[in-house]
Amino acid sequence: MAKNIIRIGKKEKKYVEEVLATQFSASKGINMLGRLEKEFSKKFGIQYSIGHTNGTATLHSALYAAGVRAGDEVIVPPLTMSATTMAVLHADAVPVFADVDEDTFQIDPKSIKKLITPKTKAIITVALYGLSPEMDEIMDIAKKNKIKVIEDDAQCFLGTYKGKMVGAIGDLSSFSFQGSKHMTAGEGGMVCTNDGDMADAVRKFSVLGYAGVSAKVGKITKDDIQNPNYERHVSMGYNYRMSELCAAVSLGQLERLEELVDRRIAVAKLFTEAIGDCSWLKPQKTPEYSKNSYWAFAVRLTHPKISWVEFRKKFMEFGGDGIYATWKLTYLEPMFKNWNLSGKEKVIEKTYDGKLQNFTEGLCPVAEKIQKEILAFKTNYWDWNRAKKQAEILKKTIKFYDKR
Ligand SMILES: Cc1ncc(COP(=O)(O)O)c(C=O)c1O
Repeated sequence: MAKNIIRIGKKEKKYVEEVLATQFSASKGINMLGRLEKEFSKKFGIQYSIGHTNGTATLHSALYAAGVRAGDEVIVPPLTMSATTMAVLHADAVPVFADVDEDTFQIDPKSIKKLITPKTKAIITVALYGLSPEMDEIMDIAKKNKIKVIEDDAQCFLGTYKGKMVGAIGDLSSFSFQGSKHMTAGEGGMVCTNDGDMADAVRKFSVLGYAGVSAKVGKITKDDIQNPNYERHVSMGYNYRMSELCAAVSLGQLERLEELVDRRIAVAKLFTEAIGDCSWLKPQKTPEYSKNSYWAFAVRLTHPKISWVEFRKKFMEFGGDGIYATWKLTYLEPMFKNWNLSGKEKVIEKTYDGKLQNFTEGLCPVAEKIQKEILAFKTNYWDWNRAKKQAEILKKTIKFYDKR
């Protein structure tokens, strides 16, 4: 039997103690963030990692480094947490929504291809629920059209695609350490890239444009600050730097990442077995060349006579913990319907000379169909017996409907 896991353990506490022992004195600084960035790069096989406050700020920095500016177009999937698109709006750019694949739920390269225009500057791919999109085809499209690919891997840690680590395929990648993610410090995020210039740009953009910071240097020196003639800000930036406390917890989690990811994969296996050959529950398809890191276990409910709400209710009646719905498609959220982008709509109107998509039903038909069907089961069960119980309850729920 698999053992129980403690999510935040001794290592995380030890590193937090180390930070607290400095009393946050700059001169006693132990540079926990630098340690985390170095280890993160090692683990993911990427040259540069730059810590951020969260996995939305990361996308904003990545878009800047990719050269996205006001009025540019960025292709995104609509079936994801809306932060992916929000970051495009933060950059004063225009989101262009591509449809998704019915089986893997990931952004569809065929749809991307049709949406490329001379204004397209970047594509953000999302490794939804822990599975990589079809990156070979997407990288090919990007290369041919000289556009950048940013991986939004908030939901994918240690996943692989055709032998490559997810996060090391695109031009830049973005991770989130928010509370529900594979590794967490409550909040936090990381941008990774193998390109030194883009890494420098990410660092400067995320640390107020300080002159002394660069890809591998996150802080300015005392000698610099104690000089009245020091010119600090060579460009405008945001204050997205990860705190030392956040870095401490993240480093502890990073050192245990295999254990944390393996647990989610093992729980997903329990749910897969519970579903067995049920013809009306269709799990997210993982191609044989991909390793799904299963941030959640997502299934389509395709039975014409069972409603989503009814299924969840029955599952919970039998003792189930609950089932998450997938996000409303981003372009169907009220911010798009009401064209209320907190002032960004005015910037877009001034800087964009293209034609906006119709942000209404019918824009991405596959995504619209499967959004209504997806049931997402949580996989972060640290207590193994509890996970097994949930899988048994799913089996019982299926049996209940099959007998009717
Ligand atoms: C796919 C995706 N992108 C971006 C984010 C934003 O990350 P954060 O909450 O750390 O800002 C999240 C999740 O929370 C996410 O799931």
